[in-house]
Amino acid sequence: MLGRLNHVALAVPDLAAAVATYRNTLGAEVSEPQALPEHGVTVVFVNVGNTKIELLEPLGDGSPIAAFLEKFPSGGMHHLCYEVDDILAARDALKASGARVLGDGNPRIGAHGKPVLFLHPKDFLGTLTELEQS
Ligand code: CO
Repeated sequence: MLGRLNHVALAVPDLAAAVATYRNTLGAEVSEPQALPEHGVTVVFVNVGNTKIELLEPLGDGSPIAAFLEKFPSGGMHHLCYEVDDILAARDALKASGARVLGDGNPRIGAHGKPVLFLHPKDFLGTLTELEQS
């Protein structure tokens, strides 16, 4: 089922500062910020060759990363995203094995324009896990 690691996402309190850290301090290639109001975040992607680092800043009220940043004010690892060939087949197999899919269980269009789902962290070693249709 599980394919490549598509990205590791870090929630950050200040996207401009986070971009400066990756671009200037670490010398990485960083995309332009993209506002995703339907996901409650502004995102940039850091290209690190074999995968990407997604930097997420809260956008608007009720951002899904607001509570995370209250707990970890300087930011931290928020989720891992793996690619799957068939997101609906993956969802159905995971649900059948007892894993919990967040939200209404239907894929939504993520930051790359592809369907994504999130799996409950308590079912995956304390780690919020995103699946993206490859
Ligand atoms: Co993600």
